[in-house]
Order: sequence, then C-alpha cells, then structure tokens
Amino acid sequence: MDLTNIATWVTTVVVIFITAVVTKIIVTGRRATFQAVCSRAHPPVVNGPSLIKLVHVVLTKGLREMIRDQYRALGSVFTLSFFGVKITFLVGPEVLDHFYQGLESEISHGNTLEFMVPMLGKEVGFGVDVATRNEQMRFHNDALKLSKLRSHTDPMLQEVEDYFTRWGQHGTVDLKHEFEQLLMLISSRCLLGREIRENMFDEVHTLFRELNGGMSLASVLFPYAPTPTNRRRDRARAKLSKLFTEIVRSRKSSNRTEGDVLQNLIDSEYKDGRPTTEAEVTGLVIMLLFGGKHTSSVTSTWTGACLLTHEKWLAAVIEEQKEIARVYGDRIDYNALLQMDTLHRCIKEVLRMHPLVPVFFRKVHKSFTLRTKDGAEYEIPRGHTLASPALFNNYLPYIYKDPGVYDPDRFSLEREEDKVGGKFSFTAFGGGRHSCVGEAYAYMQIKVIWSYLLRNFELNLESPFPETDWSKLVPSPKGKVMVTYRRRVAA
Ligand code: HEM
Repeated sequence: MDLTNIATWVTTVVVIFITAVVTKIIVTGRRATFQAVCSRAHPPVVNGPSLIKLVHVVLTKGLREMIRDQYRALGSVFTLSFFGVKITFLVGPEVLDHFYQGLESEISHGNTLEFMVPMLGKEVGFGVDVATRNEQMRFHNDALKLSKLRSHTDPMLQEVEDYFTRWGQHGTVDLKHEFEQLLMLISSRCLLGREIRENMFDEVHTLFRELNGGMSLASVLFPYAPTPTNRRRDRARAKLSKLFTEIVRSRKSSNRTEGDVLQNLIDSEYKDGRPTTEAEVTGLVIMLLFGGKHTSSVTSTWTGACLLTHEKWLAAVIEEQKEIARVYGDRIDYNALLQMDTLHRCIKEVLRMHPLVPVFFRKVHKSFTLRTKDGAEYEIPRGHTLASPALFNNYLPYIYKDPGVYDPDRFSLEREEDKVGGKFSFTAFGGGRHSCVGEAYAYMQIKVIWSYLLRNFELNLESPFPETDWSKLVPSPKGKVMVTYRRRVAA
C-alpha cells in the first residue's frame, strides 16, 4: 500500500465525513423528533476499536484488502460507523438495484457533487432542481445517442490522422501525455465545435486547465472559499461563458448550424417548449468535456499498457484490424468500428481492471430494504451513505474467473461474465438512472485512436507496467508511460 492510496482513502473519508456531519447537524436540528422505524435488522456495524484495526489495514494493505476482510467476516452488506457518520458498503451486484435505480427523492448523490456548481454554473446539474436536471440529462443522451455518433467518425479520424502525422518514422513518446493532447483536440472538434477548435483552441485549453483547479481537494471541500485556485477557476469559467455565449449568438443570428454536440445542446428544448439558454448550453457542454476527455485519455493509456504487455491480445487486435481492412479498406469508418469486437473487449477488460470510479457513493433519503444473495435481509436507514466499491466488485471470483488476469474473452458471447450477477455486474459506466451518457462515444473515440495506431505503428512499452496513482480523483497510470514507435512500411 503506497502513500497515494492512503491519500485517496483519507480524502474520500474526509469529504464524506464533513458532508455527513454538516448534513446531520442540519437535519437533526430540523427534525429532532425523527425516529427510524424499522422491522428488519440493520447491517452489521464496525465501530470503536474495530475501526482502528480497519484503518490500519487500509493504511498498510489498501482499501481493497480492508473490504475483503470485512466482506469475509460480515458478508456483503456492512456499515462503518464513526462520530455518527454511517457508511454502508454494498459488495457484489446483487445488492445494487436500489442503489442505481431508486428514485432521486429516495437515494441520490446527495451534496457530494456540489463542488461542481461553480465549475459548471448554477444553471445546470447540481445547481438546478431534479426535474430540470433530468431534462438536461435527456439533452445529453440525445446529443450522444447512437444514431448521431456516425457523424463524429470522420472528424475524430481527421484529428487522429493529423496528430499522428506529426510523429516521425520512429521515436519515443509518453503515451499518457500524447493521449491527453489528442483527446483535447478530438473533444474540441466533436463536442465544443469548429469555432473553438479552429480559432481558440490554445486559449480554451488553458481556461479548462484553470477550471480544472476546482477538482483539487481544497476546492472540493471548500468550493466557495476565496482561495487563489477558486478565484482562477471562477475567472476561467466567466471567460468560457463569454466565449460560448458569443458562439451561440453568432450561430443563431446567422442561422448557421454545425454537426457538433454543441449544436445539439443549442437546439434542445424543455418539455414546455423552452429552448436552452446560453448559460445552460455552456454548462452542459463543459460537463461533457469534464465527463469525457480525461476518462477516455486514461482508458486509452491503460489499453496501451495492457495490449503492449500481452502479446496474445496484441496479436489478436492487429489481426482483427487486418481482417477488417480487407473488407472495409484502409480508411476507418463507422461500420468498420462496429466490427472491432476484439478491440472492444480489450478496452472493456481494461475498464474492469482499472475502473475510473473506484467507489460509487450515494446518500439514502428514505429507508429501504435489501436482500443479499445469501438471503439475508437488511433495513438501510435514512441518513446512511452508501458505498459500492467497483474496485472490489470487479474482482469478485464468483463473477469474474481469475479476476487478476487480463482476459478480454470473458466478455465473449460464450462466457458473458459481465452478466453473471445480473445487470450491475459491470459498472465501469455506472448504471441505472445516472449511467454514463457517453459510453458509446467513449468506445468510439478510443477505438478510432487504437485502430489507427495498430494499423500504422509497431509499438513497444519501455516503462514498466504502470502502477495506479490513487491520489487522483480519476485513478490513472502513475508516472510517464514511455513507448517506442516505428512507422509500419506499407505492404
Ligand atoms: C472510458 C470513458 C468513460 C468512463 C469510464 C465513464 C464513466 C462514467 C461513470 C462511472 C459515470 C456514473 C457516475 C455515477 O454514477 O456517479 C459517468 C457519468 C457521466 N458521464 Fe461518463 N465515462 C466515460 C466517458 C464519458 C464521455 C466520453 C462522456 C461525454 C462525452 C461522458 C459523460 C458523462 C456524464 C455527463 C455523466 C453524468 C450522468 C448523470 O449524472 O446522469 N462520460 N461516466
């Protein structure tokens, strides 16, 4: 267990603890007479001296080991209780139905994502009421639905080709850095639009980096404190807002439309016929950039690290590209992307082994009952924070055979291990009400990048297989991921 792992755990606990304590004080003040009425047992609780032992395990062996110990001792549902804060862990897919599908009034993200409000604006996401937020999620879903993805293939490919044309005949690169740059270019073109990509790329890139300061631990805990980082974040957000407002107005006044996601958001309407405002469009498109750029870049890097250390799978994806090229020709198009099953499974296996959201959290607003796979029933009281540890669930051996082995075939039609425990066996993209709107788009851009690389370059991983940097909000490969490349000679 390294120090970064400790940092993540401590960060997570601190955020939940402060949120929960503040909420508890407010709620207790308002409803001093509230009594949980329950007919079923509450989950087993770890508290007092046992907690100290547990913290020791986290610090020395890691979060996954701590969960394993408690799971073995207490079963798939257990509560950690400290200073009045109760975090209930739900292990395994069988206990996740309500977690993912419950009504927003009964179970939600609570206020854990409120630090996003100054970043995205108070007109979207957690700045607005649930009904408006649901409609805005519909705009996102609509903008990224399968029937619209086809039109993004060419712009994505164009960016990929232009980017890798700049590589020489051979050389050494940090794959992580390369993908960060490339994903910003693709996102600018497909999400933010032509005006930004062609005229303001550098400026917008810088502004997003400053806005990203809002994800630092201090800003997450104190989003409205007058710190230099928060001030830079607010200035960047104001400038972005101005840029997008001008773009939206210019498109509207000249009756010009584009094929990007920004245009879809401009054209979106609420159920009552009201069109989206400029501030809403700005917030919604920034949200997509935050949701989509870094996640895809990290996944692309892990995919490289896994393929370049597993000869069998590297050979399989190269062979698949050759077969597809024989049918669809050298140019990658949407139909060709749909045929890349092996590459798709290789990416999916990366997401199982390196989940970008290691633990999902929710807040319980209304008590509910759940049943474990062993038949035990528990009442989960209002006020509990729920934690679904993907970093543990993705390695459950009764679902995933030899879970420590990189084995993309586990997702083949013959095996379908991701369905063994029901629909929440594979939650790399979340599930239910808040599942990722960008899943298909993400696979598409990662497949465009990797199919292009596999077709055009021989690659070798020079660095050791990267460790995970758990100190990041999105756990990422640690350090540089150095790769040597050599351009393939056309046959
Ligand atoms: C490999 C890439 C990606 C992964 C692993 C990923 C993962 C996730 C996960 C786990 C959630 C649910 C979080 C929760 O339940 O608390 C989520 C939500 C979301 N994702 Fe992604 N994502 C990826 C790419 C993208 C892309 C490309 C976009 C947009 C272009 C995107 C936009 C969003 C948005 C807007 C949400 C919030 C949905 C909501 O709250 O209803 N994501 N993502």
